[in-house]
Amino acid sequence: MDIKNEKISLYKILKRIIPMVFLASPIYFIFFNIVSIVNGILAVMSTIMTQKFFDSVTNAVNNGETVSNVLLIGGGLGLVLIIDEIGNGVLNFIPDDLSYRVNAYIGGKINKKVGSLDPLVFENPSTLDDINRANVGMMDSMFLVFIFSMIFTSYVPYFLMMAAYLYRLKPVLSLSIIIIFIPVALNQFIRLKVFRKLSDEAAPVRREVKYYEDCIVDREYFKETRQLGAFKYFIDLYVSSIKLLNKKRWAAEKESGIMELKMKGITLLGYMGVLYLLVDALIKGEISVGAFGAVFASIGQMFSTMEEIISRHIGRITEDLGNINHLIRFLDIPEREGSDFEIKGVPGITLRNVSFRYPGREEETLNTINLDIKPGETIAIVGENGAGKTTLVKIMTGIYIPNDGQVIFGGIDTSKISMKSLYKNISAVFQKFQRYKMNLGENIAISDLVQVNDEKLNHATKKADLIIDKEKFKDSYGTMLSREFDGIDLSGGQWQKIAIARGFYKVHDTIVLDEPTAAIDPIEETKIYNKFADMSKDKTAIIVTHRLGAAKIADRIVVMDKGEICEIGTHEELINIKGKYSEMYNAQSKWYVET
Ligand SMILES: Nc1ncnc2c1ncn2[C@@H]1O[C@H](COP(=O)(O)OP(=O)(O)OP(=O)(O)O)[C@@H](O)[C@H]1O
Ligand SMILES: [Mg+2]
Repeated sequence: MDIKNEKISLYKILKRIIPMVFLASPIYFIFFNIVSIVNGILAVMSTIMTQKFFDSVTNAVNNGETVSNVLLIGGGLGLVLIIDEIGNGVLNFIPDDLSYRVNAYIGGKINKKVGSLDPLVFENPSTLDDINRANVGMMDSMFLVFIFSMIFTSYVPYFLMMAAYLYRLKPVLSLSIIIIFIPVALNQFIRLKVFRKLSDEAAPVRREVKYYEDCIVDREYFKETRQLGAFKYFIDLYVSSIKLLNKKRWAAEKESGIMELKMKGITLLGYMGVLYLLVDALIKGEISVGAFGAVFASIGQMFSTMEEIISRHIGRITEDLGNINHLIRFLDIPEREGSDFEIKGVPGITLRNVSFRYPGREEETLNTINLDIKPGETIAIVGENGAGKTTLVKIMTGIYIPNDGQVIFGGIDTSKISMKSLYKNISAVFQKFQRYKMNLGENIAISDLVQVNDEKLNHATKKADLIIDKEKFKDSYGTMLSREFDGIDLSGGQWQKIAIARGFYKVHDTIVLDEPTAAIDPIEETKIYNKFADMSKDKTAIIVTHRLGAAKIADRIVVMDKGEICEIGTHEELINIKGKYSEMYNAQSKWYVET
C-alpha cells in the first residue's frame, strides 16, 4: 500500500504524461508544436538571411549591385526576426495559459483517485504528503512535456540545420557546435550534483524548521507551548536550524559559484576556438565576409540557446522528475475494488475468523474475531485503550478489509462491495472527527449538501442536543465556524455535538458512534445516550464507549482485550461472570459510590 521509492524510467514517464497533457487541451498542444517547429526553422533562416544581407551589401559596395536588392534582403531579414520574436512570445505564453486546463484535467484525475483509494492508504502518514507532491508533479509534468516538445521540434532541428549550414561553409566549422556544447553541459552537470547534495542534506533540516515554527505560531500548539513556557526553547531550536540551513546553502552556492567561474573560462576558450576557425577560414578566402558576419552573429545565439536547453530546461527537468515520479506512483496506487450493490433494509453484520494488521506493523491488531450482529441490534464495544475497538468498528463497516477471514455486511462480503454502496446507509461519528471551516449548516449537512433544509437540520441538532441560540450563532445555520474565516470559535463539546448532529443528519440504517461524547459533560451525555437509544431502536447500531454506564443501553456488550473479544453478553450476564467487564465496571462505579 505504500508508495515505493523506485524510480520510473524517463520513457515510461513520458508515455504516461504526454497523453495527459495532450488531452488537457489538444488544440493548444498541436498549436504549440507547430509554432515550435517554425521557430527552429526561423532561427536558422535568420542566420542564412544575415549572410545573404552582408553579401549583398558587400556586392553593392564592391561590384555596384543595385541597392534595391540590398533593401529587399534586409526587409526579408527584418521580417524573419519579427516573426521569430512573435513565436518566442507565443511559446512562453501557451504553457502559462494551458496550466489552468492541465490543472483541471490532471487535478481532476488526482481528486478522483483520492476518492477511490482504500481508506487504509490514509493510515500511512506519508500518503497525504504524497498527494501534495502529486499536485506539484502535475504542474511539473506539463512543463516537462513542453520542454521535450521544444527540444525535439525546435532545438534539435535548429542545431542540426546549423551544423549542416556550417558544414557547407567549411566542414571543420561544424565542430563549433560541439565546442559550444561541452562547457555548458559540464557546468550544469556539476551544478546539479552540488545542489542535489544540498537538497538531500537540507530536507530533514527544513522539516525541523517547519516543525519548530508550528510549535511557536500554529494555533494547535500555541496555547500549550505558551502555557508550558516553552517558547524560548523552540525559538532557540528554530534559530539554530535556520542557521544550519543557511550555512549549507551558502556552502553549496559557493562551491557551484566557483565551479561556474571556471566553466565560464572554458566557455570563453570555446568561443575563441570557434572564432579562430572562422577568422582562419575568412583569411584563407574559404568563406565570404557575409558568411563570416552571419556565423559570428549566430555564435552568441547558439551559446545562449545551448545554455537555455541545458541550464534552464534540462536542469529543471531533473528537478521536476522527482515530483512527476510521485504523481505517477500516486496515480498507480491500486484502488479499492468492489461492485455496486443495493443493501436493502437494516443490515446484519457477521465476522468470521477476522484478523487484521495495519500496514507496516508486525503484530495483528485484531485476532480471529467471530461475531454475529443481527439486523437492528445495538452493540456496545468496550475495552482498554489500544484494545482494538476503533479498528474493529472500521472492519465491521467495511472501511478496512480484513487480512484474513470475512466480514458480511447486509449479506454481502465487504471486500466485494464498492465503498460508495457501503457508505450510502451508514452514519458514523468517529473519535477523531473533522471541524470543517465552513458554516454550521454545512458542517452538519456535509453528507448531503444538495438537499439541505432547516427542517432536516433542526431534526439533527435536536437529536444531538445542540442548541442554536441567537447569542452564539448569530446567523443561525449560516454562522461561520472558523476564526480564520471571520467566524466563531466553539468549545470541544460543542464541536462534538455538531459531529453527532452530522451523524444523525445522514440517512442511515446503520449507525456507528466511536466515543461520540468524550468531550461532553455528564448531564448532556446522559441526554444524548438516551436519545441515541431511542434513535437506534430500528437500526443496527454500534457504540464504542469508555462510559460503561452508557453501554447498558446496548442489547449486547462486546469486551475487547488485546485485539480479541474476551467477553460478550448483556450487562447483567457480564456482571455475573465477574470477568474483565465487571472489573472495569466496578472500578468506574467506585468513583460514584460514597465511602
Ligand atoms: N493507523 C495505524 N497504524 C498502525 N497501527 C495502528 C493504527 N491505528 C491504530 N493502531 C494500533 O492498533 C491498536 C488498536 O488501536 P485502536 O485505535 O483500534 O484501539 P482502541 O481500542 O480504539 O483504543 P482507544 O480506546 O484509545 O480509542 C493499537 O495498538 C494502535 O497502536
Ligand atoms: Mg478508539
